[in-house]
Amino acid sequence: MKAVILVGGLGTRLRPLTCNTPKPMIPIANRPFIEYMLHRLRDQGITEVVLAVQYLAERFRAALGDGSRLGIKLHISEEPEALGTAGAIKYVEHLLDSTTFVFNGDVLTDLNLIEMLAFHRSKGSKTTIALTPVEDPTQFGLVDTDRDQRILRFTEKPRPEEITTNLINAGTYIIEPEVLRYVPPRQFFMFERGLFPVLLQTGDPMYGYPSRAYWTDIGRPHNYIEVNHDILIGKASYPFPGTETQNRVWLGENVEIADDVQIVPPVVIGNNVRIERRASIIGPTVIGDNCTIGTEATLEGAVLWNDNQIAEKAVLRSCVVGAGNQIGVGTQVVGGAIVSDGCTIGADNRLDKQIRIWPNTTLGDQSITF
Ligand code: GTP
Repeated sequence: MKAVILVGGLGTRLRPLTCNTPKPMIPIANRPFIEYMLHRLRDQGITEVVLAVQYLAERFRAALGDGSRLGIKLHISEEPEALGTAGAIKYVEHLLDSTTFVFNGDVLTDLNLIEMLAFHRSKGSKTTIALTPVEDPTQFGLVDTDRDQRILRFTEKPRPEEITTNLINAGTYIIEPEVLRYVPPRQFFMFERGLFPVLLQTGDPMYGYPSRAYWTDIGRPHNYIEVNHDILIGKASYPFPGTETQNRVWLGENVEIADDVQIVPPVVIGNNVRIERRASIIGPTVIGDNCTIGTEATLEGAVLWNDNQIAEKAVLRSCVVGAGNQIGVGTQVVGGAIVSDGCTIGADNRLDKQIRIWPNTTLGDQSITF
């Protein structure tokens, strides 16, 4: 069984975390998301995967190579320019010979692929779209089906009186390669606005596969923090590195924690981390490799990538700190703030209200205090 994973998008909603790291490569609970995805596919019997790359393509090649490290046959195909989701599949059509799974590279889900495939076959479907329920349908594109699950229509961001379903496209598809005949070669073409409306017109069988599996789009900052939390509290299944040393505290190698540090689970700590005296690490919190957390610093609901130096008395709460940053004495990074990579933030700043700090920024002491 083959699959294509779409990983060529710019990840604009998650900027500046995606300035240096393509969205599917960003770590969740200290593990690159794409690595988890490839393992998941392999475990469900998909042994050959095409990665449709474009933005920061080199990062995928360097990290994944031919996939042998992960036990999978991997083809990395780089589009000359972004071709859109359906255009990207058309571009790799020559590698596809039969029924194929297609995945958005930014969806964390534990959808049962074997059951979805059985559904696709039992319906004689040519295109099957996984569907997931949402609480507020007005924010999404809805997918209406008949009783037999055949897709009737797509409604983009409906008004309240137009809502007839709460099911949306979950970003996992099964296609028969023959439907790619409707996709123009080497042109920008999307599934949602291009191929799916065409299939409704032509009448090629297109079905929706509803499921209540865990599902989240990691591509929005709020979701990105939340998904790390969901994994640590056990709501989403996602194996990550580290050894569980006490109830829901996972440690990497060579971790030094001073005696009077307060740790409230769940917490994941990477390799070569030092946590100094009287610091508080309150879960759900993730600390990447090679980080130092200074004396009396507080981390609560924070996600830190690798190589960060957090000075004493700093407070990091419900925030993301990318890689290689220095956070100054007493500085607060709170309220959904994002510090990307290579930043030096001086003492006594307050970064709040979802502020986003771009890579390599230097902020002096008390520069932002609102
Ligand atoms: P935003 O800019 O934040 O919307 O992110 P995105 O474009 O990366 O993601 P979006 O949700 O729009 O796309 C869904 C999936 O398709 C993501 O995994 C993207 O990486 C991927 N994708 C989007 N456009 C392209 C494209 O032109 N080529 C390829 N190969 N993949 C794409």
